[in-house]
Amino acid sequence: MTNDHSGTHGAVLADIPPADADRPLVELRNAGKSYGNIRALHGVDLTVRPGKVACVLGDNGAGKSTLIKIVSGLHQHSEGEFLVDGEPVRFSTPREALDRGIATVYQDLATVPLMPVWRNFFLGSEITKGPWPVRRLDIETMKRTADEELRNMGIVLDDLEQPIGTLSGGQRQCVAIARAVHFGARVLILDEPTAALGVKQSGVVLKYIAAARDRGLGVIFITHNPHHAYMVGDHFSVLRLGTMELSADRDQVSLEELTNHMAGGTELTALKHELAQVRGVDVERLPEGRDLTAPVAEPGEEKA
Ligand SMILES: Nc1ncnc2c1ncn2[C@@H]1O[C@H](COP(=O)(O)OP(=O)(O)O)[C@@H](O)[C@H]1O
Ligand SMILES: [Mg+2]
Repeated sequence: MTNDHSGTHGAVLADIPPADADRPLVELRNAGKSYGNIRALHGVDLTVRPGKVACVLGDNGAGKSTLIKIVSGLHQHSEGEFLVDGEPVRFSTPREALDRGIATVYQDLATVPLMPVWRNFFLGSEITKGPWPVRRLDIETMKRTADEELRNMGIVLDDLEQPIGTLSGGQRQCVAIARAVHFGARVLILDEPTAALGVKQSGVVLKYIAAARDRGLGVIFITHNPHHAYMVGDHFSVLRLGTMELSADRDQVSLEELTNHMAGGTELTALKHELAQVRGVDVERLPEGRDLTAPVAEPGEEKA
């Protein structure tokens, strides 16, 4: 596996050791976080390896954002351990996480909509040329590099001069992923990147998650969609009310089981019990511990 993310103007991120196929990049051990009296996260384990996608699933309020805020340096854990390259860490700022190669793509992307795609690609890390005091932006190099990096990820845009605001939500996510890869990310955190997207655009984003994985990055993919998770995931962690309800490798869990965990199998069984007391609901025909909105009757069959 190669780990050459140095780009054309040298690595921006410092001290990046080469990826070792099986060595975890990031690990949480029995980690937790309280906000004052509120225990948002408790007893969470997570291992992120190079070239693998670790999916974190869970309903609203489950603690997904809290978890990634710890890893991305926005918050500090208040229980357990957080290790990067096997070494215990405690980040005070996202910059410290970034210096260790941990990049986060947030749902509300920090882009300047009216600026061209290539300008956004280099936002805050512009390439300049010439000696002081006549140092100026190296526009040619930036355009060429952005174009190359986007193509390397399989992203082809007609015109990098177009304002990034004219791209679709899915395309903007993809530019953000390519940007993180270019600037030397080893761990890519994606907070619900497909939540606001339609089916086709979600597919595009999933494709680039796979592309980042294939380039050897460790990916933390936050989602509440088990189907999206199962398309690219190597490991699945399901959070519920701040604790880990499931932690399973791909060969230990089927899509159906994962969906079941997400739908809250036990809660649905209880709900089914309640429904049994309501006239007109044929509980026998409700699917076993599954999404109640799934079709109950076959097409053409009479509806209960
Ligand atoms: N800054 C905060 N202060 C207090 N409570 C918080 C804060 N952030 C999150 N919480 C609480 O922690 C729990 C987990 O939230 P969060 O991590 O945002 O879940 P998710 O991203 O899975 O929806 C929720 O009960 C939420 O209200
Ligand atoms: Mg969240």
